[in-house]
Amino acid sequence: MEKVELLMTQMVETLDDKYILELFEKIPKGKRLRAKLILKIAGLSEDAYKLAAIVELIHAASLLHDDVIDDAMLRRGQESINSIFGDKTSIMLGDILYSTGFAALTALPQNVAFKVSNAVALLSAGELLDVELSKKFNDNEEQYIDMIYKKTASLIEASSASAAMLGGKNVEIYEIYGKNLGLAFQVIDDILDITQDSDKLGKPSLHDFKEGKTTLPYLYLYKRIDADEKKKLLSLFKKDLDEDDRMWIKNRMKETCSLDDSMEYARKLGGEALESIKDEKNDHLSDIITQMIYRDF
Ligand code: FPP
Ligand code: MG
Repeated sequence: MEKVELLMTQMVETLDDKYILELFEKIPKGKRLRAKLILKIAGLSEDAYKLAAIVELIHAASLLHDDVIDDAMLRRGQESINSIFGDKTSIMLGDILYSTGFAALTALPQNVAFKVSNAVALLSAGELLDVELSKKFNDNEEQYIDMIYKKTASLIEASSASAAMLGGKNVEIYEIYGKNLGLAFQVIDDILDITQDSDKLGKPSLHDFKEGKTTLPYLYLYKRIDADEKKKLLSLFKKDLDEDDRMWIKNRMKETCSLDDSMEYARKLGGEALESIKDEKNDHLSDIITQMIYRDF
């Protein structure tokens, strides 16, 4: 992964601006899952490393914007760029990173460049949909899935498909693999927001509901409770929750199997991802599914 980190830095260095580099180095580093996925599919070619660095720059840019949109003070347990330097800096740094990534993308084959840039448009449409859906209590599961497909799965799907293009593999099956992996990843993220304590998450727990996000466990819960409890859940929407409210939400989710069934939904997606690449004989790809689904942060 060091080579990907180095390439990312070199791409930012092409701007020849010390302050930008300084800001870039302050961004909390992630798990680099997308880069790992690309290298496991495409193999260790120069183009694969470039693609991995570009996708991670784009992903980092999207989180810089997302933390402004979500008013998030923490990212991966560390202070977010917007909390240290303000919203304007976070937005502009995001713009710099994604356009730097796009400039580097022009050196890759055209089908790869199209796949990745198209995913960035979808990703932005997904974030916009997330903002729209958060304005009121959304109880529509289809809209939630459409939103997480665009917001999260699209870039993972494009990473997987474009890595297959570089590696001369069957693009279609890798596209299905990436899409299901991405959907499962976001469903798990949404479950962890409820089940994990804030220390482990690096952000306050049940934060999604406060932000207006009715993720899969909330959608299931809402369907499974009576009119009085529905009213109570609606009254807590977007509010600062006290300990009793938190316990009530978590317990009712457990009692109605809303958390278990959400987990089952993610496992099923993971299974579909595995099914699509079963003849590829690449154990790394199943390990990635396991790591993404059975993670605790
Ligand atoms: C995290 O969601 C956000 C995303 C996966 C995508 C955000 C995309 C954009 C802001 C568009 C970016 C546009 C360009 C041009 C790069 P979340 O808030 O559910 O997850 P979190 O808990 O990690 O914050
Ligand atoms: Mg966010």
